[in-house]
Amino acid sequence: MRLLSLSYRNFRNLEALTLEPSARATIAVGQNGQGKTNLLEGLYLLATLKPLRANKLQELIRFGEHEARVTGKFLIAGAEREISVEVIPGGRTAFVDGKRASSLEAYFGGVSVVAFTPDDLSVVKGGPDGRRAFLDRSVFNVQPAYLDESREYGRALKNRNRLLKDRAPMSHLQAWDATLSKLGARLWVRRRTLMAALSERARAAFQRIGRSELEATWFYEPAHLGDGLAFGTASENELAERMLSRLDARLTRDVERGFTSVGPHADDVDITLGEKSARAYASQGQSRALVLAWKVAEIENLAAQNGFLPLLLLDDVSSELDPERNAFLMNYLAESGAQTLLTTTDAALVRKAAGADTKWFRVSAGRVETSHDTDE
Ligand SMILES: Nc1ncnc2c1ncn2[C@@H]1O[C@H](COP(=O)(O)OP(=O)(O)OP(=O)(O)O)[C@@H](O)[C@H]1O
Ligand SMILES: [Mg+2]
Repeated sequence: MRLLSLSYRNFRNLEALTLEPSARATIAVGQNGQGKTNLLEGLYLLATLKPLRANKLQELIRFGEHEARVTGKFLIAGAEREISVEVIPGGRTAFVDGKRASSLEAYFGGVSVVAFTPDDLSVVKGGPDGRRAFLDRSVFNVQPAYLDESREYGRALKNRNRLLKDRAPMSHLQAWDATLSKLGARLWVRRRTLMAALSERARAAFQRIGRSELEATWFYEPAHLGDGLAFGTASENELAERMLSRLDARLTRDVERGFTSVGPHADDVDITLGEKSARAYASQGQSRALVLAWKVAEIENLAAQNGFLPLLLLDDVSSELDPERNAFLMNYLAESGAQTLLTTTDAALVRKAAGADTKWFRVSAGRVETSHDTDE
């Protein structure tokens, strides 16, 4: 898979531009607030149909305009494909070769990206919702159907929570439980599969990143699952049945509190360092190394699964990493051969990732111009 060209129209502060990235590293340099993250955000939306940071898709539409559009030409298994996504105030539409995409599979068809942003770096020390979102992005990267599945679950959960708040009769509530349990079990299985593929790779990557004798582990298991069921080996049906019975057992409590307390939305990922909770004890540098290790694991897992490397998007992470970990990352990028788009305010921080085939761009007030690596 290779990204051949990328166009933006009224996407945030990018009015109209087309750029042709390098087959290897493309580096966008610019000062704060010029549109560097917007570039990556557009590409991320195109490749995943999920926002990278926006709370509402509408934020993506350039002020004063009615729709935003991002289009990318990809080379996939020898064939050229154009996909685009259009955002209007009411939602977004995906197109393949100019026609509305018939399904998510048809749309994604072999495109995969891993993004790494400064927000990711706070995931270890932050709350469980951040870690769940982080995990879910990884799941989605290998299993695109997860996008619809998790949305459906979210809708069912919202309905049940509304009934809980409204103190609806128990029978109304319980009418939702079978559906919610089935959808929940599916998400559990998806997350379990991802963790099985990633946790060992992440452990090994952490060792390679170095500067720590400590062993890192990543562990995911549903909260409040109860005894007598092994999460690692239970079937999807068994998990659905268990969720149903846990919903039932916690019903009085849930009614009192007005929200559903069991299910994939209530889980967390446990990250440990030297057998201690990384959330409670890891230093800032260690936390960042843990996230970096996870990203490396994700890239390797996708490469193993797809037979090609994902597109890598790095938004100004070099300034957040200490020099040694940044050097690890830059060398890793240079050696991996992956197609990479990096943004930075300071070219010196990412120069190690660059080679003769690197394309440099300068971003200023939403405009992007070809530039050269300079020591300015
Ligand atoms: N919907 C929008 N329409 C027009 N401009 C927007 C829109 N959303 C954001 N912007 C503008 O985009 C700019 C920020 O762009 P971006 O976040 O890409 O900056 P950046 O180059 O990554 O900066 P930093 O180095 O600080 O991260 C701001 O000037 C902001 O006002
Ligand atoms: Mg930025």
